[in-house]
Amino acid sequence: MAEESVAAVFDIYRFDPAKAPAPHYQRFTLSLAPHTPVLTALLRIRDEIDPTLTLRYSCRSAICGSCAMQVNAKSRLACETHIGPEMARHGRIVIEPMLNQPILRDLVVDQQPFWQRYDAIEPHLVLDARHPMPDGVANPMTPAEVDRFKETPRCIACAACYSACPAVSADPEFPGPMALAKLYRFVVDPRDHAQQDRLVRIQPNGLWLCLRCHLCTEACPKDVRPSERIRDLKELAIAAQGGTEHGSRHAIGFKENIRERGLLNEFKLVRQTSGVSGVMGQIGQGIRIWRKKPEIMRAPRPIEGMDEVEKIYEALDPKPEGDA
Ligand code: SF4
Ligand code: SF4
Ligand code: FES
Repeated sequence: MAEESVAAVFDIYRFDPAKAPAPHYQRFTLSLAPHTPVLTALLRIRDEIDPTLTLRYSCRSAICGSCAMQVNAKSRLACETHIGPEMARHGRIVIEPMLNQPILRDLVVDQQPFWQRYDAIEPHLVLDARHPMPDGVANPMTPAEVDRFKETPRCIACAACYSACPAVSADPEFPGPMALAKLYRFVVDPRDHAQQDRLVRIQPNGLWLCLRCHLCTEACPKDVRPSERIRDLKELAIAAQGGTEHGSRHAIGFKENIRERGLLNEFKLVRQTSGVSGVMGQIGQGIRIWRKKPEIMRAPRPIEGMDEVEKIYEALDPKPEGDA
């Protein structure tokens, strides 16, 4: 049985730097089957109504990664997003270019920032000349070693994660979720000889700027789960270098802090993260907070059920034998 058509309302971001008016939204209404991909609808608008509508696409099969855009404020692939659920949920379909990249025209962005950050992590194996890859020998990795980065090869470089990432918006130095997920892939590759160097270089102004919001994982159409790869990278960075960075000290302090009482001791966390000099530097702010919320500056009482907290810690991170 044929699907009943819906009147799909599109509000599309329009911008042509060579012409007035300024950026604006243009409305188009089409009668379409609910399973119609957003990309198909946009191509119909371009072919039948307005040939100046500019967008980027290629495979139309969720493979090439070129049709990523904002669909109802979420970074999505237009070729695998269907209009029916969008209309049912939002009553219209707002189409905008991806975030965190300069807009060139309509839905097309300049992907230079995304690719520059990717290049910066050296996304290739770094080999030691003293240990060349064996000539003519099959891949010497074990299945378990390959398994450690089984998600990252799924990446199609669509930049949906980059568009969704608030750390990229806040700090242009942040490498972005895809670059960090790729970095993880090379850090755990036993053939790579730059593991330590990669971990040292990525920590200042990089790894620890991630806010752990998981929006990149939510946006990723290929289940690469970049935020989980970034978490793994942080663990590897701490294992390799301990708490040598502001970010790693904060993470270690946070973990120890919660283990003690089940609640965060804010004052102690500042000391654990920034040391005594850091506390001194934040004295003015501390006084302001103390005036408004004095309880924040006091060590909290241990919560009820600390034994449950300890069980969680023991399961995830057992104390070394002999520690009380
Ligand atoms: S988890 Fe980190 S990398 Fe992912 S979107 Fe949030 S801030 Fe960006
Ligand atoms: S990690 Fe996912 S969202 Fe990010 S570029 Fe790769 S496929 Fe796209
Ligand atoms: S057009 Fe290739 S992923 Fe959508």
